[in-house]
Amino acid sequence: MALYSKKVMEHFMKPKNVGEIKNADGVGTVGNPVCGDLMTVYVKVKAGKIADIKFKTFGCAAALATSDMICDLAKGKTLEKAATLTRADVAGSLGGLPPIKMHCSNLAADALHEALYNYYKKSGLTIPEALSKEHESRKKHAEH
Ligand code: FES
Repeated sequence: MALYSKKVMEHFMKPKNVGEIKNADGVGTVGNPVCGDLMTVYVKVKAGKIADIKFKTFGCAAALATSDMICDLAKGKTLEKAATLTRADVAGSLGGLPPIKMHCSNLAADALHEALYNYYKKSGLTIPEALSKEHESRKKHAEH
């Protein structure tokens, strides 16, 4: 049986959202301490919605596919809706991931949430509690 679903392969082979947004309104970078992979998500916000989103990922096929998928899922959504996208949403939209690759999907939702956190912070807006908590716990883990 193939390791990856057809959807994962599509997003891995032909990612539509790869790149960087100059003067992004929010940028989030997260890393996986186990494999050392790194993902950065850039967002442009207009009227409370994600007007544009791009990613740069140094990682495995699953990490690349999940980065591309989180961008598809978040684009056009309100910030509130985008903040509720989960790791499971990403894996589910890709038709699942092999169990040993599930951890790779964590990066995508985390990088998006981090970019949103960064947007709220930079804009001087009140940071939603859930994003703030997540950010603090990531920081704590990174320090250990
Ligand atoms: Fe590192 Fe997949 S092996 S994110």
